[in-house]
Amino acid sequence: MTRHLLSCEDLTAEDAILILDTAKRLGELSTGPMRKLPTLRGRTVVNLFFEDSTRTRISFEAAAKRLSADVINFAAKGSSVEKGESLKDTAMTLEAMGADAVVIRHPASGAPYRLANAGWIGGSVINAGDGTHAHPTQALLDAYTMREHLRSGTGDLQGLRVCIVGDILHSRVARSNVTLLTTLGADVTLVAPPTLLPIGVEEWPATISYSLDDHLPETDALMMLRVQNERMNSAYFPSAREYSRRYGLTSSRMSRMPEHAIVLHPGPINRGMEIASEVADSPRAVIIEQVRNGVITRMAVLYLLLGGSESGLGDLVDEEATA
Ligand code: CP
Repeated sequence: MTRHLLSCEDLTAEDAILILDTAKRLGELSTGPMRKLPTLRGRTVVNLFFEDSTRTRISFEAAAKRLSADVINFAAKGSSVEKGESLKDTAMTLEAMGADAVVIRHPASGAPYRLANAGWIGGSVINAGDGTHAHPTQALLDAYTMREHLRSGTGDLQGLRVCIVGDILHSRVARSNVTLLTTLGADVTLVAPPTLLPIGVEEWPATISYSLDDHLPETDALMMLRVQNERMNSAYFPSAREYSRRYGLTSSRMSRMPEHAIVLHPGPINRGMEIASEVADSPRAVIIEQVRNGVITRMAVLYLLLGGSESGLGDLVDEEATA
């Protein structure tokens, strides 16, 4: 494993499978009698959030605490960042408090690279979402969820047909998923109106389509993306109603997918826009499971980046047996 996790491009298929296998093992261990594992006792994880988050921030905090790390939560809102303090000074302040790992979410693409490479901090840097660039732990938890449902929870995702639908232009989730899923052997199709596809998308290792209806019968995993209104400074489609009519997942569309197919969404959801409420709440939607898998996947990332090994988990099992 590398020291930092900045992008899914940092991961080989072996690295990704190691993280998924470790997450599975940690999930099993933390539902046993030893819910809290001692692996990161004495280590400090700093959550550095310059942009809003519910799922990622809370699950990194839960993950670090379940591994017995000390956690410092920093939100830019209400901090000295609002008085103009720079990323460098903020990072050096946190470094002085002894961070072994810094989890960073930032509106600027590339901010985690700056943090990792500028020498301001000594610990591992984990990208929790930077601008429209990358969200590697989201892609890992998505791959984990697909693997559990569609590949018996082991190995890679060879031949899995994944369709990612919606606001690809602004989506770091789509970028990270395309990289990770193709590394793991899946076939990825991106479906969006032409205005919501980035320039150069034809170079990505994915099939491009403008029609959701064409792909429903041949999809194993359908990932609906949020329309990111907060990143839009002009009109990208005629109206919300028109967008939903062509790209929204309704019950009628879902009924045209294979019986085994699952529906994912990274959240937060715009109910009634990219996904109908009854679809989001249906048994085929694994959205809440994605959140649950986010905790164990992030436990695995923290554990492996801070020096743990898959075989080291065996010691925990021994400790559990003698506890
Ligand atoms: N999926 C995701 O990143 O959600 P949050 O913005 O709530 O963290």
